[in-house]
Amino acid sequence: MIKKRIFLLIGFVFLNLHAQNHWQAPSEARQLQNPLNGVEAVWQKGQKIFNSLCASCHGQDGTGNPVMLKTLNPPPADLTSQTVQQQTDGEIFWKITEGRGLMASYKNMLTEEERWAVVKYIRRLKKNKPKKQTGKITANDNEVEAFSFSQLINAKTTFIRQTGGFGFGIQHRFGATKFDKNMLKNFFGLDLASNIRFSFEIPLTSKLMVDIGRTRYGKFYDLGVKYLLIKQSQNNRKPVSIAFYENVAVTTENPPPYSANATFAGGRPFQYQFKHRLYYDTQLIVSCKFSHRFSAQLAAELLWRNLTPASPPGEKAYVLAVPVSLRYKTGLKSAVDLEIMPTTHRHTFPVSLAYEIASSGNHVFQITVTNSDRILAQNLFFNTTLNYPQDGFMLGFNLIRYF
Ligand code: HEC
Repeated sequence: MIKKRIFLLIGFVFLNLHAQNHWQAPSEARQLQNPLNGVEAVWQKGQKIFNSLCASCHGQDGTGNPVMLKTLNPPPADLTSQTVQQQTDGEIFWKITEGRGLMASYKNMLTEEERWAVVKYIRRLKKNKPKKQTGKITANDNEVEAFSFSQLINAKTTFIRQTGGFGFGIQHRFGATKFDKNMLKNFFGLDLASNIRFSFEIPLTSKLMVDIGRTRYGKFYDLGVKYLLIKQSQNNRKPVSIAFYENVAVTTENPPPYSANATFAGGRPFQYQFKHRLYYDTQLIVSCKFSHRFSAQLAAELLWRNLTPASPPGEKAYVLAVPVSLRYKTGLKSAVDLEIMPTTHRHTFPVSLAYEIASSGNHVFQITVTNSDRILAQNLFFNTTLNYPQDGFMLGFNLIRYF
């Protein structure tokens, strides 16, 4: 009797082990159709999810994280393998939905659409798989984006949208507020004068984009061009992305009042001309995605203006800056951003913090805390910033949407 039970038990365990090796989706799953098309936006969405939820076990390239391959039993499947790739989208979708053992069920963690997007991305992994035989790696092999938007808090990033379309942005800064009795009275600065910039950006090629903007303070219209020189690759052949950015802004504000006998510094009689309205921003930006959560960038930036005010004394035509931007993803759709921008201007040191809510592949919303209400770099770097915490801070938000 006992023997029989033991045999049954062994048989059951054996059957179970056997089943472990062949994870078969039910035949209904095979028929499920992927509702998404294999367009770039879908692929990018799938990549984001994959890198943040799946790569820890399956590896960024889908072949399996070496540590997990050794420690997990059964090991994470090689998603680029024949066994997986010959399954229908429906079968892979079903497995992600249901899970088995150490491979969790993503039914509640991801929407159906998100799961289908990951399936699309898994198909791409096969295509991107480095060809080991030749040792050759194609140029666009798993390029890495350190940032998903071309604008961080105040800094431009190396990002250029690869899927065409256009982007629309709103950057808004409220008035200065600090922790005192007036804070509620002026409702955290929201009642005070505020600055706003509207902008459009248009990618022309995968390496080139233009952006145009209009800012309230200074009544600036600005036109920028960004060119991507190098794009970071996953295999670390190119460890960083590098972009060049040039922006020209024209102020349409009335010229400052000056007396008839005003002169330039050299003594020539002063006359306000169109060129005096122009401000330039030139920068070289280097960015790096260090992990799926952490990205950083560093820029070398020169701001130039054609007209330097005589007062306060010591003002120069230029300012040099080395902005540092850090982004740490706290979740699939949230992140914390920090920008620190040392400059050669005595009274200008922008430091900003932002919390990103509901950021997705084509939309980001940031709540910002800054020490200047200037937005355009040409305006920001020539103006005094507040000293935290005694001077207070400015609340604001950034919103970018890609269409
Ligand atoms: C904790 C580690 C872990 C994570 C995270 C993980 N997986 Fe898995 N995955 C596994 C393991 C282990 C298996 C093998 C399960 C088995 O055969 O019982 C597996 C199997 C699979 C399979 C089935 C392959 C086959 O044999 O047909 C697919 C598809 C898959 N994973 C996709 C994903 C996707 C997509 C994600 C992210 C949304 C993900 N996995 C996250 C560990 C993980």
